[in-house]
Amino acid sequence: MENVIVVDHPILKHSLTILRDKNTATDTFHRHSAMVSQIIILEAIKSIEPDIIKVETPLEITDGFKLRESIVFVPVLRAGLALLEAAKNFLPFSSVGFIGLERDEQTAKAREYYKKFPKDIAEKIVIVLDPMLATGGSMLDTVNAVKLAGAKDIRAVCVVAAPEGIQRLQENHPTIKIFTGDVDSHLNEQKYIVPGLGDFGDRYFGT
Ligand code: PRP
Ligand code: URA
Repeated sequence: MENVIVVDHPILKHSLTILRDKNTATDTFHRHSAMVSQIIILEAIKSIEPDIIKVETPLEITDGFKLRESIVFVPVLRAGLALLEAAKNFLPFSSVGFIGLERDEQTAKAREYYKKFPKDIAEKIVIVLDPMLATGGSMLDTVNAVKLAGAKDIRAVCVVAAPEGIQRLQENHPTIKIFTGDVDSHLNEQKYIVPGLGDFGDRYFGT
């Protein structure tokens, strides 16, 4: 699948299996979702060019690298916060925009309840964080919202994606790269990802 990057790393595979296990407790789920998120986000930002700077070691001046403050993370509330925590660990200076979306349990359509983006979002690389790409409705609404705010370079990061969600996003935004830990089989009648890992937000926050 073009523009779908399934991140391949043994630690990711190990941690994702623990996330999938229905017997995994909230604290363990928390720990392993941080691991999975870090590995996928690192892949999503790999192409970013750092500035070349001079650094003085105890012995001499040499060339070094410095990342520009060029990234805006946009976690989709609430479950996207799990990925934000991991992203902020290694990019604490990046700015953050928020969008709050909640899927109606009957229709599986997302309802927006909050939105706030940084003013300079148009000049930045926008990385949308949402662990589950199911029907793709939440991701599509978020991408449309950041595009409306002026964003041009947009990347999607998720933990598990369904083929239905990938197709929907790609039909509407074919150039957006999707970074994911895995592509699963299909959606069930309730629009849950199968085999998936259940409701990410509920499992992460213990609700
Ligand atoms: C979940 C998940 C995604 C969305 C994916 O959120 O975190 O945001 O569903 O489904 P979609 O691709 O069909 O739109 P949910 O609405 O359950 O809210 P939560 O993050 O508050 O748990
Ligand atoms: N949201 C989730 O948390 N899990 C799914 O499988 C689908 C949507």
